[in-house]
Amino acid sequence: MDYETPQFYRVMQYAAQADRDVVDMVSGSPDWDPPATLRDGLRAYADAPADDYQYPPSVGLRPLREEIARRRGVPVEQIIITNGAGEANHLAMAGGFEAFGGTEILLADPVYPYYAGRANFLGAATRYVAAETDGQLDPTALRKAASEETSVIVVNSPNNPTGAVYPESAIREFVAIAEDCGALLVSDEVYDHFDYSGEFASALDVDSEQRIVTDAFSKTMAVTGLRVGYAIITDDDLRDRARTRHMLTTVTGSRPAQYAVAHALEATPPSYYSGVRERVRGRIDRLTDALDSIGAEYTDPDGGFYVMARFPEFGGGFDDVYELIDAAGVAGMPGAAFGESFEDWIRFSVCTDRVETAAARLEAYFE
Ligand SMILES: Cc1ncc(COP(=O)(O)O)c(C=O)c1O
Repeated sequence: MDYETPQFYRVMQYAAQADRDVVDMVSGSPDWDPPATLRDGLRAYADAPADDYQYPPSVGLRPLREEIARRRGVPVEQIIITNGAGEANHLAMAGGFEAFGGTEILLADPVYPYYAGRANFLGAATRYVAAETDGQLDPTALRKAASEETSVIVVNSPNNPTGAVYPESAIREFVAIAEDCGALLVSDEVYDHFDYSGEFASALDVDSEQRIVTDAFSKTMAVTGLRVGYAIITDDDLRDRARTRHMLTTVTGSRPAQYAVAHALEATPPSYYSGVRERVRGRIDRLTDALDSIGAEYTDPDGGFYVMARFPEFGGGFDDVYELIDAAGVAGMPGAAFGESFEDWIRFSVCTDRVETAAARLEAYFE
């Protein structure tokens, strides 16, 4: 699989050129509103004095870092504000690959394609551990794949694309494996607010200098366009590397965006987060009801925005996805775009209020 070119563009372009109406279940960009408090923050910022339009500290605005530190229970010094979870992942993976000996980055299959693309970009070899059919990542299988060649292990819970939420015991074991083989564990927790199981466990709960937690407000506050994320780095050397790389690459992040997120963090009632979670869960239920009636196999997500489905006598390649676009009017992502272990599955994102239409169309097509 070519992980250098984002494959979802291919599908979106195909869908855009289709001769019919197509429900977009490809992208992971929320279609719901950010908190009203975030808009208030942006409005207030417009009238800020000239100084507030200049560089913020490279590590991010202090009030934002303090609020994150309070919520996540870590010292403020450990936090670097980044341009989304994407940059946080990059800093973590690049720093780990440089600092720990070894040639390989260990990833789950199916994989969030940007991890694989980034590993290629860093010149690292990749080794994959196949997830179970329910999307869980078996710590025993991960341990078997880890070796002294492993420099970084990347895990993601709640998981894109499988929707799995890894239990605390697994997270503990992932950190232990990294420690035992002299590697860094990167735990991408960007979907942490979308846990329907109540089982979400953060790698922060495991005390270790060999783990970095990455996260962002992109999904939590439905602001993928603002680019505000963060990395929590305990180890001094890894943190210095990340700070330097962040400064040399981007100088710093966007000040208004950080201000608005900090304001929203303080002022948003919990009902915003629970309301959004319930809405997404409702969409997932509507889609999985349709998959039940079709007789498709699917991953019933414990978290995140995505459902992977395997339809009877139907594949998960690009051609299959194009067929669904043309014949059913529903666009998903080929499972093959995420690796080999789910290559005959299709991933559907529920970031659209047209899930009802999509469900009805899929039912009609597979009837
Ligand atoms: C697992 C995972 N990590 C990171 C990202 C990127 O997050 P951000 O937009 O905050 O860079 C995504 C986006 O879809 C994702 O699914």
